[in-house]
Amino acid sequence: MPALLLLLLLSLNGALASSADVGQFAYQGFAAANLTLDGLSVIMPNGLLALTNSTSQGKGHAFHPAPLSFINTTTNSSTTVARSFSASFVFAIVSIVDGLTDQGLAFVLAPTLNLSSASAGQYLGLLNATNGTARDHILAVELDIIRNPEMRDINSNHVGIDVNSLISQQAKPAGYYGDGDGAFRDLMLNSGKPMQVWVDYDGQARQLNVTLASVQAPKPKNPLLSEAIDLYTIVAETMFVGLSASSGVLSAHHYILGWSFSLDGPAPPLDFSKLPTLPHVGPEPRSKILYIALRSATVLLIPSVLAVVFFLWRRRRFAEVREDWEDDFGPHRFTYKDLFHATDGFKNSNILGVGGFGKVYKGVLPASNLEIAVKRVSHDSRQGVREFIAEVVSIGRLRHRNLAQLLGYCRRNGELLLVYEYMANGSLDKYLYNKNGPALNWTQRTWIIKGVTSSLLYLHEDWEQVVIHRDIKASNVLLDGQMNGRLGDFGLARLYDHGTDAHTTHVVGTMGYLAPELVRTGKATPSTDVFAFGVFLLEVACGRRPIGSDEHNNPVVLVDWVLEHHSNGSIIDAVDSRLMGKFNTEEVTLVLTLGLLCAHPLPNARPSIRKVMQYLDSDQSLPRLSATYMSYSKMAQMQSEGFDSYIMPHTPRVKSICSASGESWETVMFDGR
Ligand SMILES: *[C@@H]1O[C@H](CO)[C@@H](O)[C@H](O)[C@H]1NC(C)=O
Ligand SMILES: *[C@@H]1O[C@H](CO)[C@@H](O)[C@H](O)[C@H]1NC(C)=O
Ligand SMILES: *[C@@H]1O[C@H](CO)[C@@H](O)[C@H](O)[C@H]1NC(C)=O
Ligand SMILES: *[C@@H]1O[C@H](CO)[C@@H](O)[C@H](O)[C@H]1NC(C)=O
Ligand SMILES: *[C@@H]1O[C@H](CO)[C@@H](O)[C@H](O)[C@H]1NC(C)=O
Ligand SMILES: *[C@@H]1O[C@H](CO)[C@@H](O)[C@H](O)[C@H]1NC(C)=O
Ligand SMILES: *[C@@H]1O[C@H](CO)[C@@H](O)[C@H](O)[C@H]1NC(C)=O
Ligand SMILES: *[C@@H]1O[C@H](CO)[C@@H](O)[C@H](O)[C@H]1NC(C)=O
Repeated sequence: MPALLLLLLLSLNGALASSADVGQFAYQGFAAANLTLDGLSVIMPNGLLALTNSTSQGKGHAFHPAPLSFINTTTNSSTTVARSFSASFVFAIVSIVDGLTDQGLAFVLAPTLNLSSASAGQYLGLLNATNGTARDHILAVELDIIRNPEMRDINSNHVGIDVNSLISQQAKPAGYYGDGDGAFRDLMLNSGKPMQVWVDYDGQARQLNVTLASVQAPKPKNPLLSEAIDLYTIVAETMFVGLSASSGVLSAHHYILGWSFSLDGPAPPLDFSKLPTLPHVGPEPRSKILYIALRSATVLLIPSVLAVVFFLWRRRRFAEVREDWEDDFGPHRFTYKDLFHATDGFKNSNILGVGGFGKVYKGVLPASNLEIAVKRVSHDSRQGVREFIAEVVSIGRLRHRNLAQLLGYCRRNGELLLVYEYMANGSLDKYLYNKNGPALNWTQRTWIIKGVTSSLLYLHEDWEQVVIHRDIKASNVLLDGQMNGRLGDFGLARLYDHGTDAHTTHVVGTMGYLAPELVRTGKATPSTDVFAFGVFLLEVACGRRPIGSDEHNNPVVLVDWVLEHHSNGSIIDAVDSRLMGKFNTEEVTLVLTLGLLCAHPLPNARPSIRKVMQYLDSDQSLPRLSATYMSYSKMAQMQSEGFDSYIMPHTPRVKSICSASGESWETVMFDGR
């Protein structure tokens, strides 16, 4: 009888929304659903629930509006347990930029409907960068499509059980175990195809199961994940049950087609025939265009000849270089055509800047309205390209809030196009050196410094492999809409390292930021990055270029200048006059002294970036600079002229790899001995 009633209600195409205290509902399509939505989430006219749209760095939630109690009050044993529950839903993750998607979605139990303090991106709209605690009362099942090292993700297509943290308690690659043979079969979460998830909790056994299958397929007997969890220790007095999704740099559409839930029993089954349809996305299939072209050829010859000419012209215009091995890097590859259109044909008015390695254009990807910055790098070494692209792709997997995200690349003859997330406020050097523009205040400067420090810590120590930036400087620090410092251009310098013959050493970096041992050996290390970072610290605090000039046009090396102030006991006088005395003296002293310490000529005397972080956070007090500290250029001055050529390379062997830009400090490359 209850089954019959259920069926009857289900056939009322919308919803069976039993009264809230029963804690049961089933929706196939959400047109008539009573849900609490926030953020980007909307119910579309056909009843599809879209948790996100193409907005990047957004989040969306859909909650059952009534609070539910998950505590079993009728227990007769001495230990209280949580109630059993069961949920099932059908979702689809559809990418906007072909094959490229970011961030996933999650089923969640939360103590509140107000998740305004949760972050988008890798936090899935559930938590934020502050580590979650038991007070968050969050239980989630994440369907994650990006491998985020911060969250110790296992791969870029996994299902995980999360308790008050996005570091999953248990996670497995997305898929299911076949009922017959028990063999594991993969499912691609971001395939754009609908899939069903079951989340079942047994209050007595204290066990949470998660099962995944293609839509229409029966529920596999063996769950994908089965984890011992005592829900009683997690939940608050009352909880809300919901779905959450977020977008990062790129975004995907996160759709929910149907959702059912029940406390104390199995979730009502979903009637697949009543689920809403997904919108059509993506370009027309290519074969169709070809077919039309062929047909017209049989009807009219001339237009088709014109069409072929046009086709060939277009082909040449949008020609790319693509080799078999690049298939491995699939989603990171952009088509030249898309980038061409995005940047209005690389129009001059779209030029954002001319940097160390080439021109940078602003663009908007038509399909997604995603703002991008496209850097055109010309290169001559064919040999190194493969390694470089492998590196680009691995860099593309780096995720840190203070890194300018690299989205992908495209290759043409002798040219590489790198696609980055667009940064609204441009590069930091503009703010430091443009005497007419607004000056950054001290709080902004320390915030930027801390951001860059944490990104460098991530590159040096926290990622799966050590990444050396090789070109840290103010002009490589970009500022996003919130004025967060974001380190950009990493690894680029490496392109010029590859494929060179073994007898000459190319030193790549920027004058004024090159550690002495780097000049001598050509070998970049985390310590040479710290040297450049030290110069960067001085740059930000003093508002001066690493090598400037005095009124007589004599070069002034910033490190020497600050060091002189330091030895005279007047280090505070080195601070940027544009701050007009508005700063915390202790902090300024710390930053300047730390800058000197990092730019120490001896690599062993420089702190690691982790130490730098601790000094900046005032967790540790800074060691005194030794009385014998002497800057590298000072030492050089005192020594024979041998060093001078390193500081001011002006021999013919110096080769500038930047386009003529008129900027005085560019990335340079020269042959070492
Ligand atoms: C995405 O959703 C938000 C909130 O509903 C809305 O303000 C925004 O215009 C939407 N963006 C697009 C591209 O649809
Ligand atoms: C939606 O659910 C809430 C909580 O159960 C209830 O207060 C409200 O009246 C419902 N709204 C509608 C339109 O059914
Ligand atoms: C509550 O606990 C009792 C025994 O401990 C069990 O018999 C009952 O089924 C539980 N109720 C729910 C809703 O889980
Ligand atoms: C709890 O109650 C059930 C019947 O409702 C009974 O079978 C069971 O023995 C009881 N357990 C305890 C620990 O009292
Ligand atoms: C949600 O919580 C934040 C504080 O975390 C508060 O500022 C905001 O007003 C709350 N929103 C609602 C709708 O209650
Ligand atoms: C992170 O979320 C917690 C609540 O879970 C909130 O108290 C805290 O303010 C948030 N932190 C940030 C930086 O938003
Ligand atoms: C947050 O949690 C991670 C992983 O457990 C840990 O490595 C990190 O130190 C924590 N951060 C803080 C500020 O507690
Ligand atoms: C979880 O899966 C196991 C099999 O792995 C099964 O024995 C158990 O009954 C399941 N529990 C729930 C709540 O579905």
